Amino acid sequence: MGLEMAKHDIPYVNLPAQGRDQLADLHRIFEQVVLRGSFVGTHDDLAVLEKRLAEYCGTAEAIALNSGTDALLLAMMVSGIGKGDEVITPPNSFVASTATIVQLGATPVFADVLADQNIDPEKIAKAITPRTKAIMPVHLTGRICQMDEIMEIAERHGLVVIEDAAQAIGSMYKGRLAGSIGHFGCFSAHPLKNLNALGDGGFVTTNDKTAAERMRRLRAHGMADRQTIEEWGMVSRMDTLQAAILNYRLDKLPDVIAKRRDNAALYQKLLHHKRMYVPTCRNEEFNTFHTFVIQVDRRDELQQHLKNLGIKTAIHYPVPIHLQPAAMSLGHKQGDFPMTERQAERILTLPVNQYMSKGDVETVAAEVMAFCDR
Ligand SMILES: Cc1ncc(COP(=O)(O)O)c(C=O)c1O
Repeated sequence: MGLEMAKHDIPYVNLPAQGRDQLADLHRIFEQVVLRGSFVGTHDDLAVLEKRLAEYCGTAEAIALNSGTDALLLAMMVSGIGKGDEVITPPNSFVASTATIVQLGATPVFADVLADQNIDPEKIAKAITPRTKAIMPVHLTGRICQMDEIMEIAERHGLVVIEDAAQAIGSMYKGRLAGSIGHFGCFSAHPLKNLNALGDGGFVTTNDKTAAERMRRLRAHGMADRQTIEEWGMVSRMDTLQAAILNYRLDKLPDVIAKRRDNAALYQKLLHHKRMYVPTCRNEEFNTFHTFVIQVDRRDELQQHLKNLGIKTAIHYPVPIHLQPAAMSLGHKQGDFPMTERQAERILTLPVNQYMSKGDVETVAAEVMAFCDR
């Protein structure tokens, strides 16, 4: 039996296309940084980027770091979260949100999610104990959580709100930007994000200037200056090259978001099935569609079928965090978070990247519909 050509060729992400598109500019940036010879530490690219990110996200401060994971870690560190504290977060996120809580010696307390995959404010309210110190909502897929309800609960109980906005740069809820609603916003600039570096990167947004200064110190060994170690810190600086690249790509972000929203709108028009959940856009929100996640029956079969046809998809995330081997000591079992567990079996992330043509989106939608109607 000979090798058959797949009917289509639609990748899930298309970083080579982005690279080709920007290669000449990236070369120029690389040359500038190399010839200047300053690669880590305080430099203009970093200062300019921080100022622009703060402006973009609508906060007083942005602190550039080497990952979204460290953004979560540092925001919690400056909030004084540690041993004996509880942080409420959803069990269906990327592992980093829970892992950072555990790394600080605190306890993650999970609250199940709504149909749209975001944390359920009612479940948050029920999970509060005298040890609760913070709420960490995750704006999964680029859609902001129900922040009015979450902020109201937090204020009532005196809790810190740390938005995991890793997937949500530029997203809005009732006119307010991701990362500007809670006390801290934590973002990732990982290559797969809408604002992406050529490696790891991330940042925290906040209006708290004292906390911002402390995070800047903690990201560089806790140094107040080269002679003085004010407190024990870590190494989590964003390097010059990534800062310069993000400065360049920040100009392109509105176009990236607009194209993803167009692709999503086309999916929304074409995908309709009585047992399929398709993410819609609510009036109060501006969703940036970091991912476009549908929920369907026979998900694994559909994913394999699309793969055979040459259409790549992904699953974010197939095993909920509370059921991971690393979470054993937290003592959870199947059935603890029914919504998350049910969704884990039905979610399928369709390609929505800015390099897809209208025809690509129509092809994916048509193949999904043909499978579901069968
Ligand atoms: C929801 C969420 N939180 C945190 C992170 C961690 O970001 P990073 O990979 O930059 O450390 C990610 C990145 O994948 C994420 O999607």
